Amino acid sequence: MDLNLQGKNVVVTGASKGIGLATARSFATEGANVHAVSRTVITEDGIESIPLDLTDHAAARQLADRVGEADILINNLGGVVPGSLTAAGFLDLDDDTWQATYELNLFATVRITRALLPGLLNRRGVVINVSSIGARAAFPPVDYGTAKAALNNLTKALAEEFGAGGLRALTVTPGPTRTANWSDPQGYAGRLADQAGLTLEEFITTVPGAMSITTGRLTEPEETAALITFLASDRSGNLTGADYLADGGVIKTV
Ligand SMILES: NC(=O)c1ccc[n+]([C@@H]2O[C@H](COP(=O)([O-])OP(=O)(O)OC[C@H]3O[C@@H](n4cnc5c(N)ncnc54)[C@H](OP(=O)(O)O)[C@@H]3O)[C@@H](O)[C@H]2O)c1
Repeated sequence: MDLNLQGKNVVVTGASKGIGLATARSFATEGANVHAVSRTVITEDGIESIPLDLTDHAAARQLADRVGEADILINNLGGVVPGSLTAAGFLDLDDDTWQATYELNLFATVRITRALLPGLLNRRGVVINVSSIGARAAFPPVDYGTAKAALNNLTKALAEEFGAGGLRALTVTPGPTRTANWSDPQGYAGRLADQAGLTLEEFITTVPGAMSITTGRLTEPEETAALITFLASDRSGNLTGADYLADGGVIKTV
């Protein structure tokens, strides 16, 4: 299927690894002009690496100045911040942790979207926000889940306010996805493994059962990237405001 993405100007945030890198590669394979943003510089064929700390308030303007008008913006930046990773629960989350979580998962995306929106509107473009099943169900940590729930609301609001002007806005909602968050002993799964008194390898084998992953396995980043790429293409030209689960069936509600 030709996705007609050749030459499209695509910005992917949080793109040095995981779902973001898989997404940047997927668009590059389709012939798009890809700008990958992260703090780390990456070297990949067909991808321009833009090193920025997107929690820095000046970064959104710098990004917009660098890329000019974008056709497609993939707001993939996000994750569980260190203070949240080690917190025992709600009472253990202090103001600084809440602030850091919202900077990473919501406010940076608000600033980037605002800076790129004039160009996106000019090109009748697409914004895809990468959320989490934590937005749909009360999985800890609560600061992360609530920030992602706000992101879902932002997607819908953008779709409504700017839809008549030609913008499409969609949410993609990953469940457990085999990125460093699940393979790094210092990452999200490593902490949960410690709490459960298991090695990371032992813990990972318990995840499909413990999280009721219907397919019995974690999602691969490339699978989520393929969904994002399709949704951003004009093959999906009449889809907007919707939220697409990429979770192997974790979320059971209709
Ligand atoms: N993996 C999962 O199981 C899962 C599940 C549900 C939702 N999600 C969501 O899916 C998205 C991607 O997750 P992932 O697991 O692929 O993430 P990841 O592997 O942790 O990668 C995060 C990316 O964001 C970049 N980044 C982090 N802080 C940054 C900053 N301040 N400025 C610029 N870039 C920054 C990192 O690069 P640098 O370190 O080089 O900056 C990296 O490229 C996130 O929004 C996450 O919340 C993931």
